[in-house]
Amino acid sequence: MDNVVANENVIELKGLTKKFGKHNESTAVNALNLEVRKGEVFGFVGPNGAGKTTTMKMMIGLLEPTSGSGKVAGFDIVREVINIREATGVLPEPAGFYDHLTARQNLRFYAKLYDIEPEVREKRIVDLLNLVGLEKAIDQKIGGFSTGMRKRFGLAQALINEPSILFLDEPTSGIDPLGAQMMRDLIKDLNQNKGVTVFLSSHSMEEVEEICDRIAIVARGKLLAVGSVEELRAIVKEKEGVNYLLEVQDIPLSATIDAIRSIDGVQITNTQDSTLHIHTNNMPRGEIAKSVKNAGGTISMFEEEEMNLQKLFLKIIEGVQV
Ligand SMILES: Nc1ncnc2c1ncn2[C@@H]1O[C@H](COP(=O)(O)OP(=O)(O)OP(=O)(O)O)[C@@H](O)[C@H]1O
Ligand SMILES: [Mg+2]
Repeated sequence: MDNVVANENVIELKGLTKKFGKHNESTAVNALNLEVRKGEVFGFVGPNGAGKTTTMKMMIGLLEPTSGSGKVAGFDIVREVINIREATGVLPEPAGFYDHLTARQNLRFYAKLYDIEPEVREKRIVDLLNLVGLEKAIDQKIGGFSTGMRKRFGLAQALINEPSILFLDEPTSGIDPLGAQMMRDLIKDLNQNKGVTVFLSSHSMEEVEEICDRIAIVARGKLLAVGSVEELRAIVKEKEGVNYLLEVQDIPLSATIDAIRSIDGVQITNTQDSTLHIHTNNMPRGEIAKSVKNAGGTISMFEEEEMNLQKLFLKIIEGVQV
């Protein structure tokens, strides 16, 4: 978070499009423009089938775009795939490993693909399996690994070439809460202490809110919004208005309700004991407070209801057919 370089993009997508089908009849990724800054943890979220995996595959040279272009680590995603492979690490979903080989043998195989010297390689394998907490399983066959172990192993594999950019497709899906937290801590550590830029997809809004600096929300192949949680909040507020929680003393609840109802552009959405939930598109807080005071009430609480990413996400994809 502290090491984000504001004006240096390590990923740039311009009009990136992928169509599938004999006659290109289905559009999986639709004219996507995206910029990811050096040092960011960038979250890519959207409903099933939104095009997240397809986009990531195009960024690492596994799928060719139908149109549009992109650069990753300064390299063209169509013409410079080999350079991109060198600079990046990938945890795909689903991940395929050699199940009949041990963790060490699997990593040795991937290390050889990168021409890593044997002495460097053997030490790095041990270090990486240590990092992801699989040191005890180093000589066990991957086929016997649990889902959580496989995900952690996948992260070790993605790190074998010491990449500067990590692509993680649903790094915590299917793993238990403890394992998921460990994975998130590892991602944060790699970002903060090794300066790795992370691009990850996830269906857990809590997770994305916890670890991502900025987030892109996609649906049906289209980018709907991008920004920090704070920026997404501002976008939703602009469109949807604001909710407040209000508590008033010294006058009966009915008098408060009357006072609020008399203001144009303010609605009471719920009443809970003495707390009023109110909604307004553009009425300034001060105006609402003034009306309450004029009615003889004393405000004991007047708080803006903060929307978490889960709520923001639902608001932003609302109305988009998925
Ligand atoms: N190889 C393929 N051939 C045809 N259609 C495909 C192919 N790969 C993906 N698609 C389609 O492209 C769309 C986007 O799929 P994609 O897997 O990228 O979504 P996603 O956002 O990763 O979804 P999820 O959250 O379920 O992983 C879907 O409609 C999918 O069916
Ligand atoms: Mg996917």
